[in-house]
Amino acid sequence: SHRPTICYRPIQPSDLEVLERLHADIFPIRYEEEFFQSVVHARDIVSWAAVDRSRPNGHSDELIGFVTARIVLAKETEIGDLLIYDPLKPDQTLVYILTLGVVETYRNLGIARALIRQVIKYASSIPTCHAVYLHVISYNIPAIHLYKKMSFKCIRRLQGFYLINGQHYDSFLFVYYVNGG
Ligand code: ACO
Repeated sequence: SHRPTICYRPIQPSDLEVLERLHADIFPIRYEEEFFQSVVHARDIVSWAAVDRSRPNGHSDELIGFVTARIVLAKETEIGDLLIYDPLKPDQTLVYILTLGVVETYRNLGIARALIRQVIKYASSIPTCHAVYLHVISYNIPAIHLYKKMSFKCIRRLQGFYLINGQHYDSFLFVYYVNGG
């Protein structure tokens, strides 16, 4: 139909309703209200929205994609051991991607790639940050292709990491090193 004009901006309080609906539609996991509040108020969470400026009828600022992430202390994570631990720098950090999603009709346009690039750029700008990392469920082929294509390294397979409707599923742990790893 129309030609999209995709722009990227931080997620803000007015995005709450759409953000919740997209998470419910896209993910098999339920997120707490507190998570969404933290995202829209940028409490311990950084996020980017994709919007289509060419959408008519007041939809030109409505989320069509999102990525959310948290800064964590490297030593408190399961991959802290992968970094060279320097006792003089106990404040080493990582950026952990929590959720990434693109509305179905906007897929395969490079929007997820652009959102991940924003996260990598942000992580690279933090001197203490050594990597961006995330978990992905083992059957999610589009996401696995995306991370591989963006040069993330798959460093672990975690048995039964996810529990969905009483079923266990494995996850892959992907890492992208920044600032020299
Ligand atoms: N099949 C195979 N590879 C794919 C597919 C697919 N369906 N979709 C994307 N890719 C790969 C390709 O390698 C593509 O590069 P190419 O076009 O040069 O071949 C690359 O990803 C980039 O594609 P984008 O267009 O940027 O991806 P898109 O905007 O369509 O979003 C996403 C991909 C986020 C996985 C989308 O399909 C989605 O929202 N899925 C449901 C939610 C989800 O799975 N989120 C990620 C979970 S992991 C997490 O949240 C930490």
